[in-house]
Amino acid sequence: MPTRTLDDPCDTRLDAPELLGIAARIRECSTRAWGPNRAVTIVGRSRAVEEPLERLAKVARFHEPVLILGESGVGKESFAQALHVLSARAKDPFVSVNCPQYQEGNLTVSELFGHRRGSFTGATSDRKGCFETADGGSIFLDEVADLHMSAQVMLLRSLATGEFQPLGSESTRRVNVRVISATNRDLNALAGDERFRRDLLFRLRYFQIEVPPLRARGDDWKLLADHFLGRLARRYGVRKCFSPESERLLERYTWPGNVRELVSVSTAGYALSDGDRIEPRDFVDHLEQESRPAASEVDELYRRLCRESGDFWALVQEPFLDRELSRKEVRRIVSRGLRDSRGSYRRLLEIWRIPSESYQKFMDFLRHHRLKPSHSEDES
Ligand SMILES: Nc1ncnc2c1ncn2[C@@H]1O[C@H](COP(=O)(O)OP(=O)(O)OP(=O)(O)O)[C@@H](O)[C@H]1O
Ligand SMILES: [Mg+2]
Repeated sequence: MPTRTLDDPCDTRLDAPELLGIAARIRECSTRAWGPNRAVTIVGRSRAVEEPLERLAKVARFHEPVLILGESGVGKESFAQALHVLSARAKDPFVSVNCPQYQEGNLTVSELFGHRRGSFTGATSDRKGCFETADGGSIFLDEVADLHMSAQVMLLRSLATGEFQPLGSESTRRVNVRVISATNRDLNALAGDERFRRDLLFRLRYFQIEVPPLRARGDDWKLLADHFLGRLARRYGVRKCFSPESERLLERYTWPGNVRELVSVSTAGYALSDGDRIEPRDFVDHLEQESRPAASEVDELYRRLCRESGDFWALVQEPFLDRELSRKEVRRIVSRGLRDSRGSYRRLLEIWRIPSESYQKFMDFLRHHRLKPSHSEDES
């Protein structure tokens, strides 16, 4: 099966003609949307990544806000860019705002909505905000959980009415912007603590896309590493690859820093290796986790479950019934799966490629043997 690359016109797994058209449009528009060297490429072919990509292609044609969730470094911004490029707004701007950068209320509001000269100390001239710059296109609110409260109020109002007032201005403005936001935090919990407005959360989350962690994407890390090494080869003229020993090490690694960490490991390995083979010594210092090579058996089993060939019944059920795996170990595996599926058993089945018809069998097995982590709940 070919690599899932949204800008690859030969990707036969996007079999709906409409999606093929979309893939072609990414190629066509990316240069204009991102400048000559900027294309949006989403590499991966695991089911875990296919599901959010399909959802992304579906919601791209709408104008309602999208919330993108996922751990740090999973590719939330890349997904946001792909969403923009797939939409009818592709030729208009994509403006990215890093919300935590602005700690002060006026500055945040001004960054988003602009200000009139003299509206606060330091406002020496009129300034256009990101919403106006993005008119016709999309605005990306990165780390939206850290958006200042006063900006949350203004954003809510502008999402409700389609209008906003620059700071210090008497008149309102109207722009046509799609809001895409992203976070790695639990907005529901923040809303519970009154640190994020619940009414704003509802407005931002018309559609929700969850980008899975790299450890739940089976062998995708190899495709991604190949993609990054290929990019370096085009830039620096030498083709390099990971040695078999490096591959064995990386295969067991859990990627706490996700795709961003893989980019840095590939780049360090490429730069520091002497020949065309990248050896562990060339990159181990760049792995985030201390316990690099020694993954536990449970870690290893979990990774095998997420791979294409992984079979839950053979890898977990049988060894458990044969007492080769303890209840505690199976609970740990299920618990980790639920973390990666954000608490959903149905999504967990997708990540482990268990057919949805086996949902009941799966739940019965867990229930019967008391393997469910105590905090989890069934879904109907
Ligand atoms: N599926 C993918 N295919 C190719 N490149 C990817 C993919 N996902 C992420 N990347 C690359 O990995 C890096 C990190 O991705 P990105 O910045 O989108 O992650 P993020 O979730 O926004 O991270 P953070 O939480 O740290 O802000 C970028 O260089 C991006 O181009
Ligand atoms: Mg980001």
